[in-house]
Amino acid sequence: MKKITFVLIALALVMTACGPDTAVESPNGKLQVSFTLSDDGTPYYSVTKDGNLVILPSALGFELKDKSLSDGFTLQTSMRSSFDQNWETVWGEERMIRNRYNELIVHLHHASGAPLDITFRVFDDGFAFRYTFPERYDSLVILDEKTEYCFAELPEVWSIPWQTEYYEALWTKKAIGERQKANEDTVCSPVTLEWKNGTYGFMHEAALTDYPAQNYILGEQIGTFLTPLREGVAAYVVTPFSTPWRFVILTDNLPDMMASRIMLNLNEPCKLSNTSWIRPMKFIGIWWGMHLELMTWYQGPKHGATTANMKRYLDFAKENGFGGVLAEGWNRGWEDWSHFDMTTPYPDWDMEELSRYANSLGVQIIGHNETGGNAADYENQLEDAYRYHEAHGIHVIKTGYVSPIILTTDGPQYNRSQAGVRHYRKVIETAAEHQICIDNHEPVMPTGLQRTYPNLLTQEGVRGQEWNAWSKDGGSPAWHTTVLPFTRVMAGPVDYTPGVFNFANPVYPETRVHSTLANQLALFVVLYSPLQMACDLPENYERYPKAFQFIRDVPCDWEQSRLIDGKIGEFVLMARQERGSEDWYVGAITNDDSREMSLPLDFLKEGKSYTATIYRDGEGADWKSNPYPVKIEQQKVTREDVLTLKLASGGGSAIQLSCDN
Ligand code: NOJ
Ligand code: CA
Repeated sequence: MKKITFVLIALALVMTACGPDTAVESPNGKLQVSFTLSDDGTPYYSVTKDGNLVILPSALGFELKDKSLSDGFTLQTSMRSSFDQNWETVWGEERMIRNRYNELIVHLHHASGAPLDITFRVFDDGFAFRYTFPERYDSLVILDEKTEYCFAELPEVWSIPWQTEYYEALWTKKAIGERQKANEDTVCSPVTLEWKNGTYGFMHEAALTDYPAQNYILGEQIGTFLTPLREGVAAYVVTPFSTPWRFVILTDNLPDMMASRIMLNLNEPCKLSNTSWIRPMKFIGIWWGMHLELMTWYQGPKHGATTANMKRYLDFAKENGFGGVLAEGWNRGWEDWSHFDMTTPYPDWDMEELSRYANSLGVQIIGHNETGGNAADYENQLEDAYRYHEAHGIHVIKTGYVSPIILTTDGPQYNRSQAGVRHYRKVIETAAEHQICIDNHEPVMPTGLQRTYPNLLTQEGVRGQEWNAWSKDGGSPAWHTTVLPFTRVMAGPVDYTPGVFNFANPVYPETRVHSTLANQLALFVVLYSPLQMACDLPENYERYPKAFQFIRDVPCDWEQSRLIDGKIGEFVLMARQERGSEDWYVGAITNDDSREMSLPLDFLKEGKSYTATIYRDGEGADWKSNPYPVKIEQQKVTREDVLTLKLASGGGSAIQLSCDN
């Protein structure tokens, strides 16, 4: 574990009366970021909100292989500018996003002769900064970054440990000091911050490119360290080079934190000239059957991905309006996981016939490329694999890297190291050239790259539904999904795979989904993904056609999204307007506590009337003893109405609000 010494310098240092500009305010004037150099030339920034110091002077800098860039700087010049632009998303939680900020760039000069720029952007709901090495250095080998975040009032922090495999852990909340005492002070980015006075924060990075993912050390304050390559170096950099943005959202309440689009705004605009082939969709898959051990990935009597089975799934998808069907275990390699062949199907999978059949139905086959963590092997096959999929009408591929360390072209590495980050980018870019969208499992934590590459539709990086099939700890607690929207999903769309309709577990009876059926419906609204999988088997959906109607109807691309109410770890009440429509959808979920929620419908359009179809926990519903009862009710409503929602323990409510006029 690393020790970081936090230096609190006198506030008198914060501003110098003359010389280059060293402070920049948010457009609404409420947030201010100030830059300063201490006597020994250490760069610091501090932040005030409504005139109060919220971030104390916090150090910036680097440890390079041949020198330390933590002090010895002088300020040369600085530059301020403003930006205000609306941009349209290809898909997302919002159609239009406003990108408005003020910027300050400080040009520093190090005693060794090295220049370094730091760019600060201040938005109304937070701030960001990044480092730029403007010129070619002899060699730029970064060992670590010295960025600190010293909060004036220490928040409680929601986090997962930094070495969590693929980020598949339960997020927990603790005060910073408590983590240190428990020896759990090293955590992944992002983290969500909660203050006693009801204000919130979210810290993460944006536009992670050719650089390792950042992690945090919750010591006396918050420090950072970069995920190392196996030789201990963090990054080999060719200058000019800018690091990813480091950003902190700071808002007065939870709905504002959820509405922040700072991360997307910090990413580059879309690089793809034609995006017409990128379509959000709901899908089903030959998948849950394997996790429940009813089917196998490999060939044998229970092989899931057979031509006949796939046709059955494709028919079901067509009948119920799903855009695609995922099939895992269609290709050679599942016997020993040593080499997955991405262009050779098992003999009982007729790709030509299935491609023809899917096309005749207007349903897409969703490809699956499990690599077993052998990223180098995948890169060797990438062109061929994507040509093969493209030729068979496949425009979405789910990728997978099941292995704690991935084998990259630079040897075995953490998937979130610089080498891993480079691999994932190569996959996204190559896929785009073949008009293929990616659903990346076992990813590096998302950082908003979908703005630049909208073919990166969704990612895992979460303790998803599959854990409720086989986890020896009994499955994820009911509160888990009430934490995710405020933590993991703040970093980007999540392939959680909601929609379990059968709660009996044939293999591990003690393991199960800790939710009611109505809660599973609500997750389609609560957990955002433009590629949303209804995970259960067709036969289980056929058993409850009325409840299934919600999954048939709910969209996965939105005009706007609003958190109506919520408390991290307790409940979520989310409303979203369907893209290009006046219809709204609401999802409400709760933890183990049954509760009543009030839903004011004032987000509906003035002068319009709506039919509300409410799917709620029925009589006696309770996740533990009886998850199945769902009561479906209809009523006419307008924006003047307030609905009262009653949720069972582990329960939920899913509401469709269809505009009548
Ligand atoms: C892990 C993925 O998260 C899961 O969805 C997939 O079924 C297995 N790997 C097999 O590739
Ligand atoms: Ca996984």
